[in-house]
Amino acid sequence: MKVWYRNHIGDARECRISILDHGLLYGDGVFEGIRITGGRVFRLHDHIARLERSARAIGLELPLRGAALATAVLDTARANGEAEAYVRLVATRGVGELGVDPASCVEPELFCIVASLRMFPAEVRAKGLRLLTSWLRRPAADMLDPQVKSLNYLNNVLAKRDARLKGYDDALLLNSIGRVTEATGANLFAVIDGTLVTPPTADGALPGITRDSVLKMRAEMGAPVECRSLTRYDLLAADEVFLSGSGAGLVSVASIDDTPIGSDARPLCEQLRETYGDYAARHGVAF
Ligand SMILES: Cc1ncc(COP(=O)(O)O)c(C=O)c1O
Repeated sequence: MKVWYRNHIGDARECRISILDHGLLYGDGVFEGIRITGGRVFRLHDHIARLERSARAIGLELPLRGAALATAVLDTARANGEAEAYVRLVATRGVGELGVDPASCVEPELFCIVASLRMFPAEVRAKGLRLLTSWLRRPAADMLDPQVKSLNYLNNVLAKRDARLKGYDDALLLNSIGRVTEATGANLFAVIDGTLVTPPTADGALPGITRDSVLKMRAEMGAPVECRSLTRYDLLAADEVFLSGSGAGLVSVASIDDTPIGSDARPLCEQLRETYGDYAARHGVAF
């Protein structure tokens, strides 16, 4: 596992982040998860743009931006050397006084980790995921906007923990009025009457880079795609449901609350997974 930290590439164990960092104390920071596949960093510039937008939205001045940030990621990926890996790029508010006021945090921290990540084991992916509808709800877009990829993941952590303790693979998160948002670390798609549908960010979905790529790949196939509100009923009645994410990849959902979804075939998810390799090669940055 290689890490970029304060303009230096080294081992994760050498890094020392202060216990007074507001990222640790209050979840005050933003991050990106980026897929490395086929020796390329997938849609690197789009991830950096999203990080910059998240940082701007919370008034955090990134220590590096644009091309310099891209170079830091590519250098870390090169040092790690693996053609299939995962990048975690994190910016925190930095060290400050105790208390939520970030005014005393004058030096934000930035670090980049490149490592392998297996969000779901191979046998679970092969069978399809068993999702549990969580009793936890995704915060509304007018509370903590889901477009900000912040370090505040406690809701997601608790939903995942609860699902795992009850024997499920992941949780389905609804918003406060019962609309589908996403899973704990991935976006969600449903195939309904041949149309690929995903919930809008206004309902509480992160604007995922993989989600966007899936919509584009499907549109390139000349097939209909839609971004609209979905209920739990829509998923239970769908022909196919799957998740997308930099960590998750594209993974089928076999059941929700023990109700099987569609047939066992899940053809669209498989077709997109096959197309994804070629798409990633066209939209990845070599290191
Ligand atoms: C809550 C959440 N939704 C969706 C995603 C998928 O986004 P992306 O495809 O950009 O990785 C992630 C990825 O980390 C996530 O944490």
